[in-house]
Amino acid sequence: MSQTVGRAGGRFITFEGIDGAGKSSQISAAVALLQARGIDVVQSREPGGTPLGERLRELLLHEPMHLETEAMLMFAARREHLASRIVPALEAGRWVVCDRFSDATYAYQVGGRGLARGKFQALEVWVHPDVQPDLTLLFDLPPEAAAARIAASGADPDRFEREQRDFFVRVREAYLERARDAGGRICVIDADRPPETIRGEIEHLLQARFFA
Ligand code: TYD
Repeated sequence: MSQTVGRAGGRFITFEGIDGAGKSSQISAAVALLQARGIDVVQSREPGGTPLGERLRELLLHEPMHLETEAMLMFAARREHLASRIVPALEAGRWVVCDRFSDATYAYQVGGRGLARGKFQALEVWVHPDVQPDLTLLFDLPPEAAAARIAASGADPDRFEREQRDFFVRVREAYLERARDAGGRICVIDADRPPETIRGEIEHLLQARFFA
């Protein structure tokens, strides 16, 4: 956790996991929980979160590109997001709840695509040397179960969702490896359970981490 950015009580919480892990509805539930405690919450997502970031998201999700271009565009969108939304919100004492952040770049671009770790680290240190989430909830489940959920949703798959099982096996492994190295910042949630059970666990985690 970074203390360099003046936080005035603001907290930064991120949600991660392979596509189809079911984090979207849990993010809304977590935001509602925090708001019920009177907390001023900014909800956002990556890639995206700003007008420029959302335009980059369109390209990233639909336009074929070199893996290093992909990694740099993820971090370009992130730079904008940090500068114009995340850091100002934290400095004003607001809480930021974000659907994905740099752990996703580690999992998808390093783990999934094979980007060199050193290049990821250079971009991470450049773009956010003094900001890391206070807490990251990693939704973990087997790629087969996630793929079944995506298929059942009936939505048009994007460039990432169209990847094969092997890709998601690597993404999942990279997420779990990052969780092991994160010194307690990343909590792994078994996402292969009923939504109400997961919701209860998240409520418990937030309580223990921030309100105990
Ligand atoms: P997400 O918003 O979770 O997708 P959806 O709205 O379809 O559920 O994420 C968009 C995709 O971008 C997802 O497949 C993961 C990918 N991604 C990366 O590859 N690297 C990154 O750094 C980020 C933030 C996302």
